[in-house]
Amino acid sequence: MTAPNTEDELISRALGARHLAYAPYSGFQVGCVLVTDSGETYEGANIENASYGLALCAERAAIARMILDGGEHPRAIYVASQSSPPASPCGMCRQVLLEFADDPTALRVIAVNPSGERVEWTLAELIPAGFTGKQLS
Ligand code: THU
Repeated sequence: MTAPNTEDELISRALGARHLAYAPYSGFQVGCVLVTDSGETYEGANIENASYGLALCAERAAIARMILDGGEHPRAIYVASQSSPPASPCGMCRQVLLEFADDPTALRVIAVNPSGERVEWTLAELIPAGFTGKQLS
């Protein structure tokens, strides 16, 4: 059985994951921890490239790890950056989270920074009326 993750532990892991970032161009390190509906956790950090537009955000790095590990649905994601107020996920990451969200109104997005600031939304608040695969049929 997976050990329960406390909010404080998850925040501290997201803050720590910033140190995994490869961000030599922006100097903006983002770390995150994604929690699935079965309680598994995956860390992510941003990975930049000399061709700037190829930067991979922390959130999408964590989602890739979740999918490759057989995870299906995120239920929370803790995102840590140096911004004040704490930075929310970019539009591309919101869309990718939406792809795997069981219920966007129940997927918690928690943004934090090292000063202890914390902001929380649901994914539905961050990407209202989002485009999903249902609209392709
Ligand atoms: N970044 C993330 O990792 N997540 C976001 O949601 C916003 C932006 C990264 C991408 C790039 O490496 C750096 O932050 C500056 O944009």
